[in-house]
Amino acid sequence: MIDNYGFTEFQRQVIAEFRANGGKVGGMFEGWALVLLTTVGARSGLRRTNPLGYLEIDGQPLVVASAMGAPASPAWYHNIRKNPMVTVETGTETYPAIAAIPAGEERDALFAEVVRRDPGFGEYQAKTTRTIPVVTLHRVEPGADRVRGLGDFLVESHDWLRQELTDLRRQLNADPAAIERTPPGLAQELRTHCLTFCEALKEHHTGEELGAFPMLAQRFPALAPALAKLSEEHAVVARLQAEIQRLVDGYRPGESDPAALRAELDRLAAELEAHFAWEERTVVTALNAMGPAPEF
Ligand SMILES: [Fe+2]
Ligand SMILES: [Fe+2]
Repeated sequence: MIDNYGFTEFQRQVIAEFRANGGKVGGMFEGWALVLLTTVGARSGLRRTNPLGYLEIDGQPLVVASAMGAPASPAWYHNIRKNPMVTVETGTETYPAIAAIPAGEERDALFAEVVRRDPGFGEYQAKTTRTIPVVTLHRVEPGADRVRGLGDFLVESHDWLRQELTDLRRQLNADPAAIERTPPGLAQELRTHCLTFCEALKEHHTGEELGAFPMLAQRFPALAPALAKLSEEHAVVARLQAEIQRLVDGYRPGESDPAALRAELDRLAAELEAHFAWEERTVVTALNAMGPAPEF
């Protein structure tokens, strides 16, 4: 019986039994590995808890949005497309996680393994034309002792770029007369430093556009609008960089106005700091859940 909350009395009993017995449920679920997944309602904004079949493949916890082969995906799946932050209860522990939706070959390989372990999921797939999604659950681990993740790596890259830009501006502001010296004086040095910084920033943004962002947009559909906006900001930053490059390249000691270059660098610094800050708020948790930082 479905009540007003879209919840069956049966589900309520399963959840209560699960919580009372350390994750074990009898009756038709006897011997099954279950998990309680709490999502935030896509429309209601309220927390919803669903008992689901639970699998671990190569140590990766996952659930399957089979809805027993129904034509439409279950509500909890729509919820995580809107907000991937979830709570996972295994019976012995409860932890916050971010739910990802692997696509293409990665999804197919996981689903094949799911079916190998539990052929019932293959029967569900046969009942419906939709591709049954596999949802991987990635524990969000707060605290300093966790593994340094991809998100931490992003913040470190930002911090390095922040420092470089600060140094560049200090170089320009410390001794206004210095830039007036003829090359290979400070003007030349500034040119070199500027080029190094601009190349590093360009490389950072290219890496995001080609690597991190498409991966995140695919796995976390809820992030897609924010990622599109971040990409637009990259274009704004690139235009500012081009203008700075033009001013630095065309700089003639004694003729050019250092104030114009200073103003452009200030604009870039403000624009970039806003971009970094928002990017860090938006993607760091998701990136940390995706894997460890690269080692050099
Ligand atoms: Fe960025
Ligand atoms: Fe970035």
